[in-house]
Amino acid sequence: MASAAKLTFYCSAQEDWCQLMANKFQDATGIKVNMTRKSSGETFAQVKAESANPKGDVWWGGTGDPHLQAAEEDLTEPYVSPMRSELNDWAISQATSAGDKTIGIYSGALGYGYNEDLLKANNLPAPSCWKDLTKPEYKGFVQMANPNSSGTAYTTLATMVQLFGEDEGFQFMKDLHKNINQYTKSGSAPIKAAGRGENTVGIVFMHDAVKQAVSGFPIKVVAPCEGTGYEIGSMSIIKGARNMDEAKKFYDWALSADAQTLALDVKAYQVPSNKGAKTSPSAPDLSSIKLIDYDFKKYGSSAERKRLLKKWDDEVSTLPQ
Ligand code: F6P
Repeated sequence: MASAAKLTFYCSAQEDWCQLMANKFQDATGIKVNMTRKSSGETFAQVKAESANPKGDVWWGGTGDPHLQAAEEDLTEPYVSPMRSELNDWAISQATSAGDKTIGIYSGALGYGYNEDLLKANNLPAPSCWKDLTKPEYKGFVQMANPNSSGTAYTTLATMVQLFGEDEGFQFMKDLHKNINQYTKSGSAPIKAAGRGENTVGIVFMHDAVKQAVSGFPIKVVAPCEGTGYEIGSMSIIKGARNMDEAKKFYDWALSADAQTLALDVKAYQVPSNKGAKTSPSAPDLSSIKLIDYDFKKYGSSAERKRLLKKWDDEVSTLPQ
């Protein structure tokens, strides 16, 4: 008897969205889904470590840079979905720049959020720029993730290098380091902690801060005055996937307007790549945010991502606080 169809699903978006996608795909197809949520950099490392004997089938979500690195390192499989004609240009460019080994599923701008009550309680001024976060009065009040594990934090590092230039960008990371109370593993953890009142400022994608605000927590969302970077959240099929047909089925389904509209059920306010997917009025309006021309090709390249992470490990994370 043939064993039941199954899919090993690696997910790097928010946990509740990952769970929902897994359940809805399973309901729609009868394919049994085994989902694991890990941050973008962690999933990249896992896919790489498993490459001689791949265990995952499809990797959905997470920032695009590690997906591009996986494509370059030949860890993922080229696939041209029939759903492509329904997607925005930015999602397709992500695919064409990687020999069709990945594709854009959503986008979102980087920023930060803060807990208004804690800010007031500590007599802190309301920050509005990146550079505000390096002022001495915020010492111990700022949290971000570790750029090795988290795509959000790597996007932060690459954004500073592009926004201020390499030397000033690293100086910013060093000055910021003095104010950081903890580097978390996952990108959205700092703003979840701020929502719970356990942290004051969290450097995160703006949509993750909006989610806390619309959930009733006293979180203010900031689009930093200097401008900011953004992500193209991506999806890739793992090279040598044991369940290749199921992986392609998931891939096509995940690009559909209906599947992308599910995001709203879990307050995931990224911009969807399918032009027909619904968006929420609460979602950050990317056209009103000063975005840099983020160079995905460069900062998603294996050499540059490795170089920046090593430099951050050597020159920033080891500094005293
Ligand atoms: O929480 C959702 C999200 O911000 C996505 O938009 C993003 O792709 C992902 O998390 C990044 O997570 P991490 O920083 O943990 O890799």
